[in-house]
Amino acid sequence: MKREIVTHSERETYAFAKSFAEGLKAGDIISLDGDLGAGKTIFTKGLCDGLGVKDVVNSPTYTLVNEYTGRGGKVFHFDVYRIGDEEELYDIGFTEYLDSGAISIIEWGTYARGILEEYPNVLYIQIKKAEEDEERKIIIL
Ligand SMILES: Nc1ncnc2c1ncn2[C@@H]1O[C@H](COP(=O)(O)OP(=O)(O)OP(=O)(O)O)[C@@H](O)[C@H]1O
Ligand SMILES: [Mg+2]
Repeated sequence: MKREIVTHSERETYAFAKSFAEGLKAGDIISLDGDLGAGKTIFTKGLCDGLGVKDVVNSPTYTLVNEYTGRGGKVFHFDVYRIGDEEELYDIGFTEYLDSGAISIIEWGTYARGILEEYPNVLYIQIKKAEEDEERKIIIL
């Protein structure tokens, strides 16, 4: 069911994501989309907090994936903004990560959509900037 939430600060987005994490289960895949600076990484940080990750959560810039440990097991954090094509994702074992039973969070999931389409357990989340500087609309599809 589609849901829309409006947040008014980084803190609010983080807190929403943290509580959203309570509904996640092993093997879930979260695809995050939205413009540069929309808040995908902030959302990921909140999710990871909610999943009990104590590691520092930052966007994987030089690698494609960061691996954390949460209460329920591993959490994989991808940022696929810089991939050339989906072939590259197969090369790094993307599907093995997705199939591992861990929770996977993918920033810029749209660039992996051809692969994600094959998975029934993907939650698609869009974050949109709004008129106000610190306002964001979070759309859960
Ligand atoms: N309501 C809000 N929710 C989330 N972030 C907000 C909000 N208002 C302002 N911000 C700011 O927007 C920025 C979001 O940055 P973040 O790195 O999470 O974006 P991103 O979508 O991951 O960008 P990129 O595509 O570059 O990875 C932060 O600087 C944050 O402080
Ligand atoms: Mg980011």
